[in-house]
Amino acid sequence: MSRLFDFARPLLHAFSPETAHDLTIATLSSGLFRADPVPRDVRLHVNCMGLDFPNPLGLAAGFDKNAKVPDDMLRLGFGFVEIGSVTPRAQKGNDKPRLFRLSDDRAVINRMGFNNDGHPRVFGRLSDRDDRGGIVGVNLGANKDSDDRIADYALGAAVFNKLASYITVNISSPNTPGLRALQSKGELEALISRVRKAIDGSVEEDGRRAPLVLKIAPDLVEDELDDIAAVCLKTKVDAIIVSNTTITRPPLKSKHRDEAGGLSGPPLFGLSTVQLARMHSATNGKLPLIGAGGISCAEDAWQKLRAGASLLQLYSALVYQGPQLIGDILQGLIDRMDAHGFSGLHQVTGSGRDEWLKGGPSRE
Ligand SMILES: Cc1cc2nc3c(=O)[nH]c(=O)nc-3n(C[C@H](O)[C@H](O)[C@H](O)COP(=O)(O)O)c2cc1C
Repeated sequence: MSRLFDFARPLLHAFSPETAHDLTIATLSSGLFRADPVPRDVRLHVNCMGLDFPNPLGLAAGFDKNAKVPDDMLRLGFGFVEIGSVTPRAQKGNDKPRLFRLSDDRAVINRMGFNNDGHPRVFGRLSDRDDRGGIVGVNLGANKDSDDRIADYALGAAVFNKLASYITVNISSPNTPGLRALQSKGELEALISRVRKAIDGSVEEDGRRAPLVLKIAPDLVEDELDDIAAVCLKTKVDAIIVSNTTITRPPLKSKHRDEAGGLSGPPLFGLSTVQLARMHSATNGKLPLIGAGGISCAEDAWQKLRAGASLLQLYSALVYQGPQLIGDILQGLIDRMDAHGFSGLHQVTGSGRDEWLKGGPSRE
């Protein structure tokens, strides 16, 4: 599979990014490919939110919006997969082109706008795979034309509670106007309490309650971040994903750098990792954090853990490096634990937080 990607990448990148993505999903779902084995090591196991993750590296939301290939992605070696964002009703998203490769920066800009098949179809696909195991989280969004966006999240929580390993409330997409306002203190408390009620109301005989995860933007000022931390501690959110894409534009080389939308990949790494350290500090390390944003090698993954993450997610680096990256990162984490004599990743989480609060280790 990995060698196949080396061969296929120039071909794939000859297509528009969205066509290349659709071809990748179709190829993966054909089941024709065998994945290279990834390193397995008991020291990579993470216990978090009551779930036992075989390794800390997850696929971030947006790659498999419609739950077409969660098992194929788990087979490639990811420790967990997050599908979505999914909204109550199917929607087309923004006009094309809306996805841009910034190859010189190994980055991506997207303004997809929650294009997805809607709850019923995605629920159907997840029901079909229900007995296959593995950790598959469901990331929820709100319809663009919704009168009551909080109700959209509550509905999603009720619908997916019984099938989702965990539920992510994504209020940090920059591509649905007004959505990020739900990150403000008052709105957020109302949102979490309605989503919790919806989960409680949908608990069946097995008593299963999906853990609740909040996904935030990297573009929050310190007061906003502190407010979110306080609300999450008070309402006992199970974990926070830091972060979604950024609407800021650090210096970039590629011709598409001024496209509107959310920027992801390496240029997001520093910003999202500093925010991760801030969130670890604001929550006193009491809430598990999932570090996402610009991970493109083992050292990045290691630094996210040092800044405060218990789990990790990536997406953009797959576009440039393919699935080989998964095994490379896991092996790199094992090598670093060996070098430090660590017996598990819990010893890494937060160990470099103070350095990251000052901007992170200097990089050559
Ligand atoms: C094309 C694209 C689509 C995305 N769609 C979603 C989405 O629907 N919901 C969501 O929560 N995040 C979405 N994201 C954000 C990613 O999940 C992730 O948080 C972000 O890209 C940072 O990680 P990365 O630098 O490893 O890509 C999307 C990202 C990309 C590149």
